[in-house]
Amino acid sequence: MPTTNVTISSAETEARASKPFLKWAGGKSRLLPKILPYVPDSFVNYHEPFLGGGAMFFAVQGRIQGRAHLTDLNEELINAWIAVRSHQDELRPLLAWYKERDSKDFYYEVRAATTEGLVARAARFIYLNQTSWNGLWRTNSKTGAMNVPWGDRPFRGLTDEALLGLQNTLSVADAYFGDFREACLRAEPGDFVYLDPPYLPVWSNSDEKEPTSKFNKYTSKVFGLPDLQELADICTVLTARGVRWVMSNRDNEQVRDLFPDADIIGFTTHRSIAAQSKRAVEARRSPETIIIGK
Ligand SMILES: C[S@@+](CC[C@H](N)C(=O)[O-])C[C@H]1O[C@@H](n2cnc3c(N)ncnc32)[C@H](O)[C@@H]1O
Repeated sequence: MPTTNVTISSAETEARASKPFLKWAGGKSRLLPKILPYVPDSFVNYHEPFLGGGAMFFAVQGRIQGRAHLTDLNEELINAWIAVRSHQDELRPLLAWYKERDSKDFYYEVRAATTEGLVARAARFIYLNQTSWNGLWRTNSKTGAMNVPWGDRPFRGLTDEALLGLQNTLSVADAYFGDFREACLRAEPGDFVYLDPPYLPVWSNSDEKEPTSKFNKYTSKVFGLPDLQELADICTVLTARGVRWVMSNRDNEQVRDLFPDADIIGFTTHRSIAAQSKRAVEARRSPETIIIGK
C-alpha cells in the first residue's frame, strides 16, 4: 500500500489543539498573537506558575517535549484542572446534573452551598465559572463564600469531545495548588516558564480612594509589589540556571524598573475591566508589556 506523508505544521497543530475550558479574569487568549512570537518553538518542560484558565498552556501544547507543570494559588481552580484531567467519569454526570437544573435561582443556591470532595467541588466551580457575571471568581474575605452575581448566561457544560481532547492534552500535565515561588523552583535548564501574575492595582491620581483597576484578588492573598519584586529576583535566578521565561504585565515604569536585564516590548490593548461594585464591564485602554528573559 502506498503511504502518504502528511506534514502538519506547528500552526495547524496549535489550531487543532484543545481550548481553555474556563473563562478567567486576566486570561490571555486575546493577547496570544502578540506574546507567542516570543515563546521558544520547543523546550523540555513547560511551567505556568499563575495558571488561571491556562490560555498559554493550550496554545503551546505542541511545543512541550517533556511535561507541563501547572500551578495556581486558587485551590478550587486547581481542583477543576485535576478533575478534568483525571476524573472525567465522575465529573461528566455531575456537569449534566448542573445543566438540567440551571437557572438564576439555582445559581444562587449553588453559590450559597458548600460541597465536599475534589470532583464535586470541581463541578460546582465549573458551573459557577460558566454562569457567574463575567466568569469572575471572587470570595468574601471573612467568610470565604463566593459572592459574584449571576451572569445571565446558560450553563453549557463541557461536551464529550471537549472532555476527550482535554484528557489527551492534560496527559502530559501535572497541576499543583501552590505558590509561584515553589512552582519556579521546579524549572530546570532547557525548560520554559510563562509568568502571568496578577497586575498591581493602578491609581489614576493620588486623590482617589480606590484604584482605577483593582481586580487582582484571585485568592484570599492579594498579590502586591513585594511579591512582584520577589518574582523579579526569581527571574534572575531562572536566567542564570538556563531556564527561558516570558512574563506578561502592565506596562509602567514600576514594572520596567524591576527587569533591567530583560527585553521589554510594550503594546496597547483594550481590557474589559471587571468593575467589582458595578455590573457594567468597562473597556479601557491598557498598556501591556511582554518581558523576555535573556
Ligand atoms: C492574571 S491571572 C492568570 C491568567 C492566565 N494567564 C489565563 O490566561 O487565564 C493570575 C493568576 O495567578 C494566581 N495567583 C495569585 N497569586 C498567586 C501566587 N502567589 N502564586 C501562584 N498563583 C497566584 C491567581 O489565582 C490567578 O489565577
